[in-house]
Amino acid sequence: MTNESSKADAIDAAGSQDGTPLAMDPAEFERLGRRVVALIAGHLAKLRDRPVRPEPGPEILQEVLTQGLPEAGAAPEDILDYVESHVLPYPTGNGHPRFFAWVVAPPAPVAVLSEVVANGMNMMGGGAAALPTHFGQCTGRWLMDAVGFPGEGSMSLLLSGGSMANLTGLAAARHWAAKSDGWDLRGEGLQGGRPPLTVYASEEAHSCIQKSVELLGLGSTNLRRIPVDRDYRIEVAALEAAVAEDRAAGRLWFHIDGAYGALGVCDPAAAPRFAGMARAHSLALDPHKWLSVPLDCGCVMVRDRTLLRDAFSVVPPYLQAARTQGPDELLLPFEHSFELSRGFKALKVWATLMHLGRAGLRAKIARSNALARRLADAVEAAPDLALLAPVSLSIVCFRFAPPGWSGGEAALETLNREINETLNAEGEVFFTPTTLAGRHALRACIIHYATTEADVDLLVRRVRETGRELAARQAGR
Ligand SMILES: Cc1ncc(COP(=O)(O)O)c(C=O)c1O
Repeated sequence: MTNESSKADAIDAAGSQDGTPLAMDPAEFERLGRRVVALIAGHLAKLRDRPVRPEPGPEILQEVLTQGLPEAGAAPEDILDYVESHVLPYPTGNGHPRFFAWVVAPPAPVAVLSEVVANGMNMMGGGAAALPTHFGQCTGRWLMDAVGFPGEGSMSLLLSGGSMANLTGLAAARHWAAKSDGWDLRGEGLQGGRPPLTVYASEEAHSCIQKSVELLGLGSTNLRRIPVDRDYRIEVAALEAAVAEDRAAGRLWFHIDGAYGALGVCDPAAAPRFAGMARAHSLALDPHKWLSVPLDCGCVMVRDRTLLRDAFSVVPPYLQAARTQGPDELLLPFEHSFELSRGFKALKVWATLMHLGRAGLRAKIARSNALARRLADAVEAAPDLALLAPVSLSIVCFRFAPPGWSGGEAALETLNREINETLNAEGEVFFTPTTLAGRHALRACIIHYATTEADVDLLVRRVRETGRELAARQAGR
């Protein structure tokens, strides 16, 4: 990577200023920082006109995978050249307004900028006197408020993502269940011959629920999969029957995986469907999904915060001081979760929510849902498209199904796969398939704050045009 002309720079950089590797003169930092901001701004400005998800060629991937660590350090300028040529041209698509695939946020620009400050200061988010802990508690309260999770006696913690948030919520549930049964889980572990704990989840639940159950030592045979109805909602009667079979009396813990969906409650039109969410004992919500906070950032809310402390608190002598300096109501994340060191995630959440305000949050979520309804209406109005599931928030599942199709189910699935692959390769839109009740479906998820009606209309138009072309080609074979 280092060419001849910059070798001297490289040596300077490696043994810079006072001979300390990694040190950088502030003026040089500012010069390079301006270049970085210009690069990002250029990337954002060109995004709409570029393919949604340009794939790096195999040579680039191979080069990145196999490169060796050089003996002499490289100059920062050369490092940025490499980033410009090898990273910036190949976004994973989620920043593009016509990315309709997985639930990964387009980053809110104000959060990107705040994150630079957080990284620049690299503040440790642990102790009672530390500002990040205060911002964390404040944003936790805002998020609880935004989704109507009761704040009194609760705790809301920022974590790495939805998987960690679900794991933490279920760890609190496990602790509670053992405690209610007079069992010292932390001392005894799961090896004391106690009756098994059982988890019930929809058969459509995310894979991280199974991983959590396994990691918590509950065993996936004790994860009861409850069927869903025709609208992919858990069959409440089947759930009640399964619970009744397992126990005659006692209590249950209610956990919600709202990693994507919980923020749907902010859309006044969708809010009635969330009645009962406030009764959850724990809830997972990912700010790095619909809220547009840059990766990574998950959040768990637990109704009885003392359970988190009971389940996780171990404070060695060297951390005692971290507890004593803040106000009484301050809750230290490391005492209430598994992780100790943590960065300043709260700043990017705070910046995003501050930029939106309550009204902006409502508008953002309602806008995504309205676009999804527009897409669903267009699908229903088109004779050659079929809606495969009701649209309750901002995800639409459908397929190309020309009237009078006589080629059979397998050929229709192949045709839909080809439509998906062709359009993704062309780069105007990007979306992914899924399987619903054993049937292949095209799936469009709308969470980008800048997606427009024209973007959604283009998706419908291109699916239909490509479907017709490919079907005609198939018929001519
Ligand atoms: C409903 C749901 N739960 C959990 C997760 C896992 O979240 P993460 O990828 O942030 O760990 C996802 C991720 O897509 C999800 O959609």
